[in-house]
Amino acid sequence: MKDKSVPPGSYGLPFIGETIGWVRNPESWVKAHLQRYGSIFKTRVMGRRVVVMLGPRANRFILWSHREHFQWGGGYGAFVGGLFPGSLSMEDGELHRRHRDLLAPWFRGKAVEGYYPIVNERIQVRIRQWSEKNEITAFDECRRLTLDMVARALIGPAAEGQTDRLAIDFETLSRGLLTPFKWDLPWMAYGRALRARQRLEAWISGAMQRARESEGDNLLTSLAQGQEEAEMVPHILGLLFDGQDTTGSLMTWLLLELDRHPQVLRRLREEVGDGVGAEGAGPAGHLS
Ligand code: HEM
Repeated sequence: MKDKSVPPGSYGLPFIGETIGWVRNPESWVKAHLQRYGSIFKTRVMGRRVVVMLGPRANRFILWSHREHFQWGGGYGAFVGGLFPGSLSMEDGELHRRHRDLLAPWFRGKAVEGYYPIVNERIQVRIRQWSEKNEITAFDECRRLTLDMVARALIGPAAEGQTDRLAIDFETLSRGLLTPFKWDLPWMAYGRALRARQRLEAWISGAMQRARESEGDNLLTSLAQGQEEAEMVPHILGLLFDGQDTTGSLMTWLLLELDRHPQVLRRLREEVGDGVGAEGAGPAGHLS
């Protein structure tokens, strides 16, 4: 691309670009750029020149109407490919379509309906644990709750009682994504992340082997029958990871916004009380 054809913005310092501001506080970084350059701007982060596109129209353009103009492996791969080789979000074209078709039935109608009891049960258990503590870190807890739900729904009973331990490895993996220093040294964030990935893969591999002999009706047992283990383990790892930060952040923002808007919280509690019983709801008016 000629420089004239790229949107406004700044590449910042050589190599580092604008990485420091972005890592330090992504939210205010994005807001400041939005105000200065508009919803499409160029920047340089983690040693790469990138274009950021924000808002619903951009989402529709990239993920739906003009999807074929973008390359997932080349994009994500440059940032996180070393930690997630072979996962669905790194693949393009025919391979992506084939793997997506294998996973898709577990994210549709009947299968999703079957997750409700698991999701509700996991929420009740976690809320009970939270209420026994004086203080919780919302994002960490929401990510763990998400992992609980996703792992129990997709992997089945093999995940029971395992998620707190797995969550620690996922958190290490997550920290490895953000470091610009991609060196495989055991005392550095990236090296620790690679080791965490190996432990997670070994656990998934073991669960998959056990699933081959089981009758369970979940994503893991279906993939264990007839699919190459080496090919499927990265997909399951990717699924467990992809859901966590996204749903975890959504839940954290929801808690924050509800706390900022007590009248909405009060109405929500009334609605929950009317519809499904008020178990777990505290006094109306503030988050407790
Ligand atoms: C609020 C929650 C979530 C949000 C906002 C979200 C957002 C997204 C977006 C925007 C994409 C498209 C990006 C891309 O194609 O690379 C995506 C893809 C994906 N998401 Fe989510 N996600 C959420 C929850 C989940 C959960 C719970 C799971 C797994 C249990 C999950 C698994 C995936 C996977 C595997 C892909 C790649 C799909 C593909 O390449 O075909 N996501 N997600």
